[in-house]
Amino acid sequence: MSRRALTEAPHRIQVVLNHDKRDQFKSQVLEHPIKREKTQSFQDERFSDIVKELNKLIGLSNVKEFIYEIYALLHMAKCRQEAGLVSNQQMLHMVFKGNPGTGKTTVARLMGRMFKDMGVLTKGHLIEAERADLVGEYIGHTAQKTRDLVKKSLGGILFIDEAYSLARGGEKDFGKEAVDTLVKSMEDHRNDFVLILAGYTVEMATFLQSNPGLPSRFPIQLTFHDYELDELLQISDLMLDERQYEMSIQAKNKLKHQLIYEITHFGRQFSNARFVRNIIEKAIRYHAVRLFSQAGLSRQELMTIEAEDLVEKNTIH
Ligand SMILES: Nc1ncnc2c1ncn2[C@@H]1O[C@H](COP(=O)(O)OP(=O)(O)OP(=O)(O)O)[C@@H](O)[C@H]1O
Ligand SMILES: [Mg+2]
Repeated sequence: MSRRALTEAPHRIQVVLNHDKRDQFKSQVLEHPIKREKTQSFQDERFSDIVKELNKLIGLSNVKEFIYEIYALLHMAKCRQEAGLVSNQQMLHMVFKGNPGTGKTTVARLMGRMFKDMGVLTKGHLIEAERADLVGEYIGHTAQKTRDLVKKSLGGILFIDEAYSLARGGEKDFGKEAVDTLVKSMEDHRNDFVLILAGYTVEMATFLQSNPGLPSRFPIQLTFHDYELDELLQISDLMLDERQYEMSIQAKNKLKHQLIYEITHFGRQFSNARFVRNIIEKAIRYHAVRLFSQAGLSRQELMTIEAEDLVEKNTIH
């Protein structure tokens, strides 16, 4: 059974594609002829930059397809408005469900830029926050902290990581005050900011259920799946390429075995692409130390990560 099948949980909006469809989008989501034609007809240079960046990301086919849909929807709303038709304001607040390192922050940042380009948001910046940034220490403090954060986010995206932790401690906890203040802010600043709540799939589902007002305020729920082994290896190639490094065959093999070990032993605690990034950055440092005292290094040597540069498993998370 794949990692995906093991971790998948029910979600409200069906943005996860079945296997056949997923394959269809696997390589390049916007390569479908009709979609490509439509995208070109938008003639929006800035969006094509976003498409390029989006397509560079490995996997994430459901997320890519969803972003395309949102783009098309916003574009249509604009056209309808120009034609004097009613253009319903869509609620763009979202829930991102997924394990660590599955690309949630990266995608949120990209969405901020897209919303700015589409005129939905004035700034498109991303403010990342977690429980401690919202919850205060005395009565009234939490509401103030939360309002300040919303203020900073106006014109952009407020991204709250591990949002389910706001339900920690139940009724008496100040987390509840933070959630109430957020809900009120969503009404007060209807079109001024987009709120994204992120966290583990199961905890987020419980969190939303525990607050009757929440589910309807977050019509968009997007699942970020754990990456498959081959996707993690492709992410590693991409990261190395961006840094102008490459791995020897032995190093690639070692990485593959480390990934298999981590996936089997750490399950949902395994930090996916973040793990790969950490391991590569550490390998680059080890490579530097290994070659430090050698003179006359070739271009190939300067570029090649060897198996010995990869730290032993269990030391990175
Ligand atoms: N599909 C992908 N293709 C290439 N790189 C990726 C992909 N997904 C994530 N990354 C890279 O992995 C790192 C971690 O991603 P990101 O911070 O977006 O994950 P996250 O889901 O927000 O993690 P966390 O829950 O730990 O905050 C970043 O350097 C990002 O660029
Ligand atoms: Mg993140």
